[in-house]
Amino acid sequence: MLSVRSLSKRVGGRLLLQDFSLDVAPGEMVAVVGESGVGKSTLLNMVAGLEPFDSGAVIVDGCSLGALDDDSRTLLRRRTVGFVFQAFHLLAYLTAAENVAVPLRLLGWPDRERASRVSDVLQAVGLEGRSAAYPRELSGGETQRIAIARALVHRPRLLLADEPTGNLDTGTADDVLGLLVREVRRNAAAGLMVTHSHHAAARCDRVIHLEGDTGIPGAPRLEGDAAVPASPGAEGEAVVRPPARSQPVTASSADRIASS
Ligand SMILES: Nc1ncnc2c1ncn2[C@@H]1O[C@H](COP(=O)(O)OP(=O)(O)OP(=O)(O)O)[C@@H](O)[C@H]1O
Ligand SMILES: [Mg+2]
Repeated sequence: MLSVRSLSKRVGGRLLLQDFSLDVAPGEMVAVVGESGVGKSTLLNMVAGLEPFDSGAVIVDGCSLGALDDDSRTLLRRRTVGFVFQAFHLLAYLTAAENVAVPLRLLGWPDRERASRVSDVLQAVGLEGRSAAYPRELSGGETQRIAIARALVHRPRLLLADEPTGNLDTGTADDVLGLLVREVRRNAAAGLMVTHSHHAAARCDRVIHLEGDTGIPGAPRLEGDAAVPASPGAEGEAVVRPPARSQPVTASSADRIASS
């Protein structure tokens, strides 16, 4: 569903990613962890086609982003991608429900189906009572859940979530993580979730660690070098173990370890 091939990215003279490769299968949720500034949000932006890369390829649902012009990339993103941005990016002049409806409006959904789907997704994030509120009237956690609802509303095949539970209390975070994993399974989507939370990472099938200062800038390794994946469908079984080796490995070798 998602294939990242030998991706390299330099930002302001610094090599963020080098030969980064990752495959995410339909129905699989992968956690991306790593220190602040290592390039996690930049990776998500590149996978979404929002930011260019220097070399390599990103293939989403069989389409190579580099081979598409801007319009085609926008259309692919509209249909296929749901993105929970780290900074939410809700539109200030639209209500919560109108914000959630934006992806469906862009896809031309008829009024009645749109309203019904928006209502269902607001209910799924526990905010059906806040549909008429404007972003300035929402708490941080409510804003985050509206951003999550907007990312899920069109049942995307690629779900990108940048610290989606950073503003939530433990109970609400648990509910939201369950919802994100369930939607990825249900839509046979590829999920990439950036998180600083071990608890959130453990709900994912695999954990990819972006390593920024190992001497191999941007070389990713598995968290603890030995995260054990849960098989898709078995939520919450991923285990993060203590480091078993000191050498960082590439994401593709991490994938092999994870799936062996
Ligand atoms: N457009 C840009 N111009 C210059 N530097 C940039 C640009 N975008 C990102 N960077 C730099 O690239 C690095 C990676 O940024 P990114 O936002 O991807 O980090 P991150 O891993 O998501 O961090 P955090 O956990 O704090 O969100 C940072 O040092 C950032 O300052
Ligand atoms: Mg970030």
